[in-house]
Amino acid sequence: MASLSPSSVPSVSDRIGFFDLQGQQRRIHDDVRQRVDAVLTHGQFILGPEVAELEGKLAAFAGVPHAIAVSSGRDALMIGLMALGIGPGDAVFVPAFTFAATAGAVCSINATPIFVDVDPTTRNMDPADLERAVAEVVAAGELKPRVIMPVDLYGLPADYEAIGKIAARHDMVVFSDAAQSFGGRSGNSRVGGMAPISATSFYPTKPLGCYGDGGAILTDNDEIAEAVRTLRSHGRQGTGDVAVRNGITGRLDTIQAAVLLSKLTIFEAELERRDQIAKRYDAGLTGKVGVQKRPAGYFSANAIYTITVEDRDALKAALDAQGIGNAFFYRLALHQHPAFAEAPKRPLPVSEMLASTVISLPMHPELTDAEVDRVIAAVVAAVA
Ligand SMILES: Cc1ncc(COP(=O)(O)O)c(C=O)c1O
Repeated sequence: MASLSPSSVPSVSDRIGFFDLQGQQRRIHDDVRQRVDAVLTHGQFILGPEVAELEGKLAAFAGVPHAIAVSSGRDALMIGLMALGIGPGDAVFVPAFTFAATAGAVCSINATPIFVDVDPTTRNMDPADLERAVAEVVAAGELKPRVIMPVDLYGLPADYEAIGKIAARHDMVVFSDAAQSFGGRSGNSRVGGMAPISATSFYPTKPLGCYGDGGAILTDNDEIAEAVRTLRSHGRQGTGDVAVRNGITGRLDTIQAAVLLSKLTIFEAELERRDQIAKRYDAGLTGKVGVQKRPAGYFSANAIYTITVEDRDALKAALDAQGIGNAFFYRLALHQHPAFAEAPKRPLPVSEMLASTVISLPMHPELTDAEVDRVIAAVVAAVA
């Protein structure tokens, strides 16, 4: 076996992690422990006071009247669709380039996902292709167009202004998959308040993440909020034992709410740091590789920083050799997953192009400028 010279093996301290939850935890460790201890002491593990406190803080942060904490981002999408009364025969328009959970939630309530291509620069749902997709569904006459579910890819809010106009023309609801974007904004609107209903995720590596699974639904609509509160708890109203709807076990654990209350104390500072890092990457990489365009007035939560290159396997090999974390988000467009093979077929060239060229670089608030510069230098050298 060929021996590697010591200089070619990155030492543990030289490695640049794709995420760094341990570094973040060291900063908030004592506060998290205190809050979790408080939960252990009062013992209300389901819908304890921390859940209500968190919901109030999330709603205030997003500038909406209602935030309802639930068991995961995917459950937030599914419960939201259930609250809207979506089911068999209904069409839900989703971008073709996103995480599988977006379409999975649609399929789990037996509605039909219609895949819409994305814009090559923002990588978010392309309003022009959305128009085409809606026209196709209307012309076919088999499904009822009900919901448009844009995704805020990598943390960048979608074009809700253009999408909202299309929804209004066809009497559809916009339901934002904001799993990656809590903390993002555009103009005066914050994620959670950019669509009539939004779902976010608190998966540990999300910009606001807990130490397990979690999510939330945000809305300004009292009826949707009431339906969601009922659906997340077996369809029961309040603490009653009568199921008024067929719900699920979809609540956020009190312990996870306690963790999130701690994370919220550093969240704004972390968003700022993520923004600085994204801008540093942009400055070093624009013109050399494809970068995600953030339109003027948009602030991304920068969950993930993703570039496009012609030969991503070669870049991956170079980054791996230097101990630089990387991942392919996403290697397949939704219509390329076996699970969604039955969805109606449409041309989705941009999503396919992205699926074969994207590679994501380290992105987390603990990154130093020197580390970001090392990543940039490694990428630039590999693609030269
Ligand atoms: C776009 C998108 N939608 C939905 C989800 C599902 O969230 P969760 O993992 O909390 O179920 C994710 C999570 O990665 C996501 O990125």
